[in-house]
Amino acid sequence: MSHVVNNLLSESIYQPLEKLKEFFNSNYKDTTQFFILVDDHTFEHCLPILLDKFRILEKVNIIIVESGENNKTIKTCERIWNELAAHNTERQDTLFINLGGGVVCDLGGFAAATFKRGIDFINIPTTLISMADASIGGKTGVNFNSIKNMIGVFAHPKCVFIHHDFLKSLERRQIVSGMAEILKHGLIADRELWNKCINIKDIMTEELSNIIYESLKIKQSIVVQDEMDRGIRNTLNFGHTIGHALESYSMIHDEMPITHGEAVASGMIMETFIANQMRILSDSDFQSIKTGILRFFMPYKMNTKGISELISLMANDKKNQQESINIQMLHAIGVMPQKSYHKKEIIYDSLNNYLSLQH
Ligand SMILES: NC(=O)c1ccc[n+]([C@@H]2O[C@H](COP(=O)([O-])OP(=O)(O)OC[C@H]3O[C@@H](n4cnc5c(N)ncnc54)[C@H](O)[C@@H]3O)[C@@H](O)[C@H]2O)c1
Repeated sequence: MSHVVNNLLSESIYQPLEKLKEFFNSNYKDTTQFFILVDDHTFEHCLPILLDKFRILEKVNIIIVESGENNKTIKTCERIWNELAAHNTERQDTLFINLGGGVVCDLGGFAAATFKRGIDFINIPTTLISMADASIGGKTGVNFNSIKNMIGVFAHPKCVFIHHDFLKSLERRQIVSGMAEILKHGLIADRELWNKCINIKDIMTEELSNIIYESLKIKQSIVVQDEMDRGIRNTLNFGHTIGHALESYSMIHDEMPITHGEAVASGMIMETFIANQMRILSDSDFQSIKTGILRFFMPYKMNTKGISELISLMANDKKNQQESINIQMLHAIGVMPQKSYHKKEIIYDSLNNYLSLQH
């Protein structure tokens, strides 16, 4: 029987991995079933590290799913539920452990939260985006009919354990991509974090560790104010209106589509361009944002002919109205943005301006 201490309001929802044993001893001493969900990459690169550190996990059941966004589906979820059922899993006696990136955390969290009305789960994120963002906040789910995160529930992990060393087996592009959400957290809530990020000497080193915790702290502080995403939590969508459209555009047109983080980084430049044009955001903050983001991310290359298609993708997004596009407007670095609606013409200008950065 599990007795869980952590809740959404507690800062101890995220801990260094070294605290895992203590956490088990305090909360899951009598638990009889442990499952670890991994994908093929985290099975190879992360599971051995975890098992080596915590011998108590040696007898756990391992569930392996194929890696990649395409496998974040109900079908994969069914496989997980089947495994749980095959082991006669009972809600009270089980802890489910997600060891992986955002896909494993979203998928495993959903599978656990829905099996027998919910078994306890924890996240051990292994990519930068999952460490600094996806592992907390309680959004779990799967894609459905090609629409991202269409099916899901809000369910919080009992704890999130961070271990910087997992990042060592990731490609640099994956790590840089994760920086986008961290930069976003700085921009919407903490100028100091923003400054730290843009001055970081090497993101492949432990310099990143503190930044991960600061980023988590910001996300958690926003989520606790608006768990169900009806108000202030929308500020986390800063950069995402244009970013999502760019991500979809790239999926349609590019053989090697850009990553989510790359799209959000571009979206943040374009959305701050609009704020600057409207005299909401100062020139110096706009320059700092543009230069800071371009330090990590190359401008996305596309033909100006694609702009109309991008705008149609935005207009079709459920969060927008046909004639105006909803954007989180940044007024200053480190200050919560505010939602406002904008005509397509100004979005057109921002895309044009952004594309001129490629030259
Ligand atoms: N729930 C949320 O709040 C939230 C927030 C942001 C993103 N997300 C979701 O997160 C997903 C994107 O996250 P992601 O980029 O971590 O995706 P991912 O889980 O697909 O990981 C990216 C790739 O890296 C591999 N990988 C993971 N850890 C590794 C490691 N340590 N070493 C080597 N390879 C490793 C994975 O197998 C995969 O191939 C999307 O599905 C997105 O919707 C959720």
